[in-house]
Formats: sequence, C-alpha cells, structure tokens
Amino acid sequence: MRLKIISCNAARIVSLAYSLFAGFLRSHGIGNTIYSIGYMTMLMTALKLPEVIDRQEEVRELLESLSSRKKSVNYALIGPRQIGKTTILRELRKRLEEKGVVAVHLDFGVYRYAPIDFPEALIKNLLNEYASQSGTLEKVIARATGLFSGLKGLKHVRPVFEIGTDQPPSVMVHLERVESNPREGLELAFRYADGLAKDSGRKVVVILDEFQHFVEFDSQPKLRGALDVFRAAVDARGDVSYVVSGSRVHFLRDVLENGRSPLFGRFNIKEVGGLGERYAKELFMKASGAAEGDAGEAYGLVGGHPFYLLALAENRKAGERVAATYDRLLTSPTGALRMYANYILAEDLGPGTGGARFVKVLRALGPGPLAVSSISKSTGIKLTNLPWYLGRLIEYDLIGKKDGEYSIEDRVIRDYFAKASA
Ligand SMILES: Nc1ncnc2c1ncn2[C@@H]1O[C@H](COP(=O)(O)OP(=O)(O)OP(=O)(O)O)[C@@H](O)[C@H]1O
Ligand SMILES: [Mg+2]
Repeated sequence: MRLKIISCNAARIVSLAYSLFAGFLRSHGIGNTIYSIGYMTMLMTALKLPEVIDRQEEVRELLESLSSRKKSVNYALIGPRQIGKTTILRELRKRLEEKGVVAVHLDFGVYRYAPIDFPEALIKNLLNEYASQSGTLEKVIARATGLFSGLKGLKHVRPVFEIGTDQPPSVMVHLERVESNPREGLELAFRYADGLAKDSGRKVVVILDEFQHFVEFDSQPKLRGALDVFRAAVDARGDVSYVVSGSRVHFLRDVLENGRSPLFGRFNIKEVGGLGERYAKELFMKASGAAEGDAGEAYGLVGGHPFYLLALAENRKAGERVAATYDRLLTSPTGALRMYANYILAEDLGPGTGGARFVKVLRALGPGPLAVSSISKSTGIKLTNLPWYLGRLIEYDLIGKKDGEYSIEDRVIRDYFAKASA
C-alpha cells in the first residue's frame, strides 16, 4: 500500500464527471431534452439545497434505530420519482453524523455507467467521514492500512491512499487492479465497512441511493454475483447497517421481498409519500412568496409532490393563475413538467422494444381509467397482446390496476397524456 500527496480540484472533477456523462448520453443518441434535464437536475442538486420542509417523522424513525448499537437493522426507502427520498437521506446522514455515527451516502446514479468506481468511493467516503470525526488523516490511513492487510482471501486488488492538498485535506483512494477484479473490489469495500466499525467501536451506516442501478450490476459479466457479495456484507454486519433507496418501486419490492432474491427478508421497507397538505403549502409559499390561497390551488393540482410544487412555484409568472402555470408547464415545448414527463418516459420505455405501443396505451388512459377491452379498442392493440404491455407499464410504476380498470398513477404524467389526447 502506498501513500502520496496529490493536488486535487474538486470543482474540476465534478465538471469532468458531468462532461463524461453528457458525452455518454450523446453517444447513445439521447437527445438534448434529456441532456438539459440531466444538467438541470445536476445543477439543482449541486447548487440549490433548499430548506427541508417537514419529514421529521420519517427521519426520526430511521435515526432512532440506526444510531443504536444494540439494534442491527437495515432499511429500504422506496417511493416515486422526485418525492423527496434523497432529501430525507441527506437529513438522516447529517443527524447520524451529529450522533457520532460514521454515515456515508452514495448515489448509484453516479456509478451506473462506471461500477468499478463504486468500491473506491465507498472506502474513500468511509475514511474521510471517520477522519473528519476522529482525528488526523494519517492515523486513520495507518489503521485502514492495517485493516486491509488483515483481510483474507483478497488476492488481487490493492488499495493506494493519497492525501489531497485541499483544505480541509481529504483522502483519495485508488484500488489497483480493480478493473479486472471488480467483484473483489466490491467485497473489499464492504468488508472495510465492517472492519472500520469493529476497529473504531463506532456504528457505521452505509446509505445506497438509486439502488436499482446496483441491482443491474449483477447482470454485467464481470460483476455477476454482486448481489450475493452485498448479501454477505449485510449478513456479516456487526455494527454496520445499510439503507437502500430508489424510485423503481415494483422492481425494488421484487428484489427485497421475493423469496428467490438473495436479499429476501433483510430490509425493512418504508414507502415515502408526498408532503402533507400543510407542509406542501408551506413549501409552495416559501418557494414562490405566494399567498395561502394560491398554495391551496397548487396542492389541489399536484398534491404534496415536492418537485411538482417547486416547478409550479419557480415558473409562475407574476399575476398568473396557478392552473394557468400548470397548463403552460405541461403544454409548452420547453415547459418544465412536459420536459420532465418526456424524460421519465424515455428513461422507462426507451431501451425496450415497443415504445410506440406503450405510448398508445398511455394516451388511451390520459382521459381516465379504462378496462382492457376499451384499451384494445382505442389503441388497436390485440386483446391477446395487451397483457404484456400492461404488465410492463405496471412494472415501471407508470400505471396501476383497480377494480378491473387501468389508470396512470402519477398526476402529472396523466395530465400530460390527457392534454396530448385532448
Ligand atoms: N421536504 C422537502 N423540503 C423541501 N424541498 C424538498 C423536500 N423534499 C424534496 N424536496 C425537493 O424536491 C426535489 C426532489 O427531491 P429529492 O431529490 O429528494 O427526491 P427523490 O425522491 O430522491 O428523487 P429521485 O427519485 O429522482 O431520486 C428536490 O429539488 C428537493 O430539493
Ligand atoms: Mg433521489
């Protein structure tokens, strides 16, 4: 193991990461709309961290059991897109840190196309978090070096630590030969989390956001068995708890609750819903400076969905009725909600075959719930073929079935199609 001092410029790394991401999108033929939404989202996340409204109950419940060293518990926080999961997780991490827990939060949206970077990032974040709470970097690195030498069965991957010259200084971690042994890299990172908890006598909490992308690692030839590696980490935990989170609700429920899945029965599932009416109005009023009556109108249109409320608040023109803003954002080609709906549909339906047929079904459901025979009539898709399309749309959380009728679950997506077919 080697240790060297390097200079690093965090802002440049972020900007480089983004240009690589943008390059990827372009090279895969994904258009400017998505590019700009990806950019918008990234900027929103990077630059604007608004005050967190409410979510006290959700954070308190997680905080209580995760900060206890007596309880060994793992959670899955699942819920629709942009409903506020990451906001809750950020708040949770901060509060855990205040209680002396070594808590790290990693987002698989970042490692989706570069899985081999994940083990390095996990070790790096754990090291830096522990160092920021407990003393000098050199000491923490020296202990980590000892821990890694004690890990048996890891023959190929070797960690190299570097201290940046940033202020305050932080550790960079490079795993040598991880490219050809990514599974071993994963194992090493999870075992380090366990080793750190034992060595430091602290509780360690690892938060894995956008977990659906980790599940996808399992289908890559070099990472086959990634879920088994994670299961072994979860089962071996002494004082390490894991919190996984994501918006693919059906998919994640299947991964966590299906008896055939390696992760079956290991996570307590918490579903995140929108903000309650009082807090939804508070968010809208704070973001727009509007009066309570307008906030009530916004809540009536989009419920307690924080992103939709913020989109309405931030794009409303002076004196405009909230309903008119909503209409404009859904129908104008550059409207934030229309671009968002396009992005969701491209993400979910783009890679598979039959995209146009999915859209036909969604268009048919725009005006309201329909039984399968009416969907067949209005789309021209044969009754025998429809169950496959409906099944996929349910899997993607785009539609639901109630009393024999299918409907679009999300209000904005529903209104987007209602306006498209009007
Ligand atoms: N309680 C809250 N108070 C203030 N703003 C919030 C709150 N919850 C969410 N937001 C804002 O709403 C947007 C979406 O929130 P967030 O990123 O937490 O959602 P998410 O569920 O993690 O989304 P995704 O499914 O895309 O990962 C962000 O701009 C965030 O700042
Ligand atoms: Mg999120």
